[in-house]
Amino acid sequence: MNSIKPLLDDIINGYRASVNEIIQLLKSTGDEEELIYSTALNLTKELHGNLIYLRGLIEFSNWCTNSCLYCGIRAGATGFKRYRMTQDEIVETAQYIKASNCGTVVLQCGIDPFFTTNVLADIITAIKATTGLAVTLSIGTKSYDDLARLKNAGANRFLLRFESCQQSIFKRIHPDESFEERVECIRNLQKLDYQTGSGFMIGLPGADLKITARDILFTKELELDMIGCGPFIPSPQTPLSDESILDDYSIYYKTMALVRILNPQAHIPAATAFDSLKEDGRDEVIKCGANVFMPNFTPERFKENYKLYPGKSQVDTSTDIYDAVKTRIEDLGRSVSSGVGHALRMS
Ligand code: 5AD
Repeated sequence: MNSIKPLLDDIINGYRASVNEIIQLLKSTGDEEELIYSTALNLTKELHGNLIYLRGLIEFSNWCTNSCLYCGIRAGATGFKRYRMTQDEIVETAQYIKASNCGTVVLQCGIDPFFTTNVLADIITAIKATTGLAVTLSIGTKSYDDLARLKNAGANRFLLRFESCQQSIFKRIHPDESFEERVECIRNLQKLDYQTGSGFMIGLPGADLKITARDILFTKELELDMIGCGPFIPSPQTPLSDESILDDYSIYYKTMALVRILNPQAHIPAATAFDSLKEDGRDEVIKCGANVFMPNFTPERFKENYKLYPGKSQVDTSTDIYDAVKTRIEDLGRSVSSGVGHALRMS
């Protein structure tokens, strides 16, 4: 009899695990570790079927006024070109995403004052009118009023990671922001009935198993529709460039599987940063509970400059991104969905 099985069963049946119990699960190896992955995968298939939803990503500006310590496009970073895509370029890319069988476009940028709420609302309206895609925003913390206006323009979803719920870590790595403001923004998104996503970086400097366990539990506390987590990858030219990734990659995968087990209903992407860890990193995450894949459709001439961390711009470079992703997913015995993949609570 596997000793963690009763605990996993209890969690699935609604038991609120303690920090120490999550630490115990994170420490598991061998058969117990495998049981965590298989439990997460089975739960995913039970609730979400065999389908993987595609969200086409457009990184439309790499300008940023913030100086987050981990980020390769932080204010003042050099060695690459800053760019802004025009409204036409963004809308055309969204049309290409639609033609590539993806049901959702994700619009992501740095904290770029050029893209005011009015400008963003125009872009969202144009995308909606010409593609009907579900629109997800990943544009940093916004006020309640701005969020309301963007929602009125047609935005359906919003991603804002909390990055770390350990105050000392959050504060150190985000000189321009407070944890409370981020959480307030997440709560505002929920009030405005956005499909709301958040998550954290795994293995940030200073994060031990206890902190990781708390981050995992915090995803549940927030009652999220979408949960995006990925490994912290040290980026050159940032204050964290000399930090390291975790020696034991299994912590990344166990974390993803536990996030799934605690949040069976959530849409969970296999974050791009997993491919920076190892070539088939995103495949590993699909095997432990992710049900969403976010192919990067940023046009090549811009993509190489959206350098959040090393290796990022080298993903999804094939001429036919959809075909490559479809093959990758089908090789895992899963199929791609051309649906919008709204939050399960909405169906
Ligand atoms: N390593 C891993 N993830 C990173 N992100 C930004 N920089 C890095 C990095 N160096 C992630 C953050 C952010 C998302 C858009 O990209 O979690 O929320």
